[in-house]
Amino acid sequence: MRRVFAGTAFALVGAHKFTLTEDSVPIMTTLPISPAAPDSASGSPDCALARSTAAAAAALGGVGIDAIAFAVPRSYLELTELAAARGVAPEKYTSGLGTLQMAIAGPEEDPVTLAAQAAHRVLRASGRSPAEIGLCIVGTETAVDHSKPIASYLHGLLGLPRSCRVFETKHACFGGTAGLLNAVDWIAAGSARGRAALIVCTDIARYTVGSAGEPTQGAGAVAMLVSARPRLVELEVGISGSYALDVHDFWRPLHRKDALVDGHFSVQCYLDALAGAYGQWRLLADEREPLARTCYHVPYGKLARKAHQLRCQLDGRDDSAAAGPGSFAVEVEPSLRLPAQVGNIYTGSLYLALLSLLYSEAAELENKRIGLFSYGSGCAAEFFAGRVRPGAAALIDAMDVAAPLRDRHRLTIPEYEQLRQNDLHADQRPAEAIHAAAVGQGPLTLDLESQRQARFCGIDPKERRIYSVQ
Ligand SMILES: CC(C)(COP(=O)(O)OP(=O)(O)OC[C@H]1O[C@@H](n2cnc3c(N)ncnc32)[C@H](O)[C@@H]1OP(=O)(O)O)[C@@H](O)C(=O)NCCC(=O)NCCS
Repeated sequence: MRRVFAGTAFALVGAHKFTLTEDSVPIMTTLPISPAAPDSASGSPDCALARSTAAAAAALGGVGIDAIAFAVPRSYLELTELAAARGVAPEKYTSGLGTLQMAIAGPEEDPVTLAAQAAHRVLRASGRSPAEIGLCIVGTETAVDHSKPIASYLHGLLGLPRSCRVFETKHACFGGTAGLLNAVDWIAAGSARGRAALIVCTDIARYTVGSAGEPTQGAGAVAMLVSARPRLVELEVGISGSYALDVHDFWRPLHRKDALVDGHFSVQCYLDALAGAYGQWRLLADEREPLARTCYHVPYGKLARKAHQLRCQLDGRDDSAAAGPGSFAVEVEPSLRLPAQVGNIYTGSLYLALLSLLYSEAAELENKRIGLFSYGSGCAAEFFAGRVRPGAAALIDAMDVAAPLRDRHRLTIPEYEQLRQNDLHADQRPAEAIHAAAVGQGPLTLDLESQRQARFCGIDPKERRIYSVQ
């Protein structure tokens, strides 16, 4: 079944030249390059190890994503209204960047509440109880505390078992992928002992009001249940192409809430990382069956467009046809429909693209192979692949995937600017007395049977964050 969404439109991307050989990583710019480690060829010890990890995963019935769900704040901003307020042609945002709406967090929403909401939804969708979770990793680059991880708040809010391993991962937008790949290895290694992993990517993307980055903000979380015998996407375990380089394309000093970014340089770093990670993946992966679709990290849709064009060049394919192999409209566009209505959610962006793809056409994709590209500034990237499982479409159809986008409040520009002003003091806002009094009695737990949600109440006199469930 194909679902129709508000569309995205894209201008053509400028062409670049690349070469890809067995013993070189393709590089597009004059970035400083560290001496490259020798690449793996298919007969190398690296490949043999990858095969043995894959065999361990196969013996378990495969490992991958068993369920996936997302959450967004209750409010959003129309990009055409932001364009008007900033004196910019609306097409620059809707077509030039490929984003239609941005989710904006309110005073009671933060990366913890968004994570809890997405996790609550994925547990309900999967039919699993919190008792079955043995590992909970939260990927975020907008942590709420320098020490206490969001995973600990989540552990309390979801009532996860005390025997569960919980922690937070950070590497800009790559943090969620680090968690996912860690969970896959944990299962393939046998450490899961039949339990599942809960991986949650949660972030609020903020740039300075009025800056070039402003139209590429957003907020939201994606939660995934990772297990043996996955029902949605079985991942190709042990086979992924990694790329890393020390660059200053995007950073957020400890004292700042808004990120700093060298925007055009970050685009270049992303594309270089794609070329490097994809080149490594091609050396390891079975190329006999082409990827039917590819999901890219989506800070904004146009960058996925550029990424796909680059990949087609590396493969010697043409991406401009309206249909058929290589076509952007066929291979990528369905994955950009949900992101176009949410904006950048940093760690969760790639997985919102995956959910968008499954929501759009899971039935057509059953048994087909899809590629996944994750990028985190700084930088780290990974290209890997998976196969959509038979029966995935029925599971997706049974979920109300797009429910978080319904009944959202459309912010006016003054409301949005006031929210951003209030953000500056959110981490010092005193919690209401009633909620502060609840501290010490242990966190309240979200009941899977109810629709109640976690909300951020503020900070108590000991500077602890207080949440309630309502
Ligand atoms: C992405 C970013 C660099 C764009 O900055 P900008 O200088 O304001 O925007 P640009 O002038 O490059 O315009 C963006 C696109 O809109 C196009 N555009 C501009 N005006 C347009 C119009 N009226 N109609 C249609 N398209 C238009 C431009 O041609 C450009 O497309 P191109 O990249 O294919 O050339 C900026 O938003 C940013 O820094 N974002 C945060 C960083 C980020 O997300 N990085 C991603 C890597 S992780």
